[in-house]
Amino acid sequence: MPSAAYTSGGAGHPHKTHQISKQLPELLIQLQSPKPMDSKILQQLQAIVGEGRVLTDADSLQNYGLDRTTVWSAAPCAVVLPGKTEEVQAIVRLAGRENLAIVPSGGRTGLSGGAVAKSGELVLALDRMNKVIDFNAVDRSLTCEAGIITQQLQEYAEEQGLFYPVDFASAGSSQIGGNIATNAGGINVIRYGMTREWVLGLKVVTGNGEILELNRGLIKNNTGYDFRHLLIGSEGTLGIICEATLRLAPPPKDPAVLVLGVSDFPAIMDVLKTYSGALTLNAFEFFSDLALEKVLAHQPLTAPFEQRTPYYALLEFEQTTPEVLDTAMALFEDCVEAGWVLDGVVSQNQTQAKNLWRLREDISETLSFSKPYKNDISVQVSQMPDFIRAVDDLASQRYPDFEVVWYGHIGDGNLHLNILKPDELSIEDFTQECSSVSTEVAELVQSFNGSVSAEHGIGLLKKPYLSYTRSETEIALMQQIKSLFDPKGILNPGKLF
Ligand code: MLT
Ligand code: ZN
Repeated sequence: MPSAAYTSGGAGHPHKTHQISKQLPELLIQLQSPKPMDSKILQQLQAIVGEGRVLTDADSLQNYGLDRTTVWSAAPCAVVLPGKTEEVQAIVRLAGRENLAIVPSGGRTGLSGGAVAKSGELVLALDRMNKVIDFNAVDRSLTCEAGIITQQLQEYAEEQGLFYPVDFASAGSSQIGGNIATNAGGINVIRYGMTREWVLGLKVVTGNGEILELNRGLIKNNTGYDFRHLLIGSEGTLGIICEATLRLAPPPKDPAVLVLGVSDFPAIMDVLKTYSGALTLNAFEFFSDLALEKVLAHQPLTAPFEQRTPYYALLEFEQTTPEVLDTAMALFEDCVEAGWVLDGVVSQNQTQAKNLWRLREDISETLSFSKPYKNDISVQVSQMPDFIRAVDDLASQRYPDFEVVWYGHIGDGNLHLNILKPDELSIEDFTQECSSVSTEVAELVQSFNGSVSAEHGIGLLKKPYLSYTRSETEIALMQQIKSLFDPKGILNPGKLF
């Protein structure tokens, strides 16, 4: 590979059905003013957490009442900031006595409304519970409080010579408790799996105010139902995650990033097959040229190579030996020869790798300015070309005037379909229009045996579509489980189902 051909962007250039009753989506912005907090409850909360740790000012209610969705208005009654598990327990018990709904709150980077408090709920924010409690080099695990920021956890692991592999663009502000409550996915799932794979133990407070210590850091523990896995992905509806014990991995050796320009979507699958059979892939992502165009218009980045192509694949692979890069380049030649790949670029150092990653990771933030209607859907990897064709046909029929941006995590079958709001359309009309087409997208997902929420969770936004992925019996069982963990229904009511 020619060392002279590095682009100014900073990277080397290789030579080249079953359905139950559907609720109507509750999608229009709800204009509510926050309900004032009952002064007796306020005093009791203050007695639990201390002065200054119950917030009722307008800015805090606004800030803590929303996640990154743009559909609802914040209207919590107050925000409480406990400092330890026993305080969480006392708050939950008080809320139970007073019939006060609680919205557990982490970094509020969610995209499905799971952390939205729009109906006078008490927001219980874990911000103050943000410490690493223990590290064990033999077990290669750490125990931390739920409010620690994901990136701080990753950095802590790195300081110990280890690696916490769950990663995504919002790692700088999301909290580990929220990651666990939503079973966060991200960019490394093809190699490392979702958050679930890394949780060895949880300390939670149930809706009944009991403290449960689940699995206690064990690798092997076949003693009946594993409640830890019920809590993971439960979106704050079963218990409040206060502490977690997490497994850590050895760090991948010298990861390199390759961005390939491809002619069409099926070619991406050929590239995936070629590379995943020969290299240890940490990530295999894709984005459309429109996604790239938006990122380049808003971020100080350059295109990966001169020629624009309809789609791009971004691969990260581990360089366990110096020969790995040669293998990657030889595969590139094969892909070009087969007509799947039109151009490509490979990182030569970590700065270049970071810049290439930004082309993919900055998409979400860039699009957020256009208030996109987001779909986070998955099918089996092998089904993706047929599925994307079917959704593309539907989108071009039903959204002829809207910009449709595709990107996602090809390696694990997860597609992000973002419909951008035209400037002249009100958010209400736009959301209404998108939600009617969403039912058709959900029907397609169902016909492919896919999921209406691959990684963002159901929250409020995807609630109307849950029954396209989960059966009536499953949903009824979920409700029964909820009533066991949270008999008064005070934990994140109205979310999930
Ligand atoms: C991503 O893959 O970039 C995240 O899931 C966020 C998003 O879908 O916008
Ligand atoms: Zn994603």
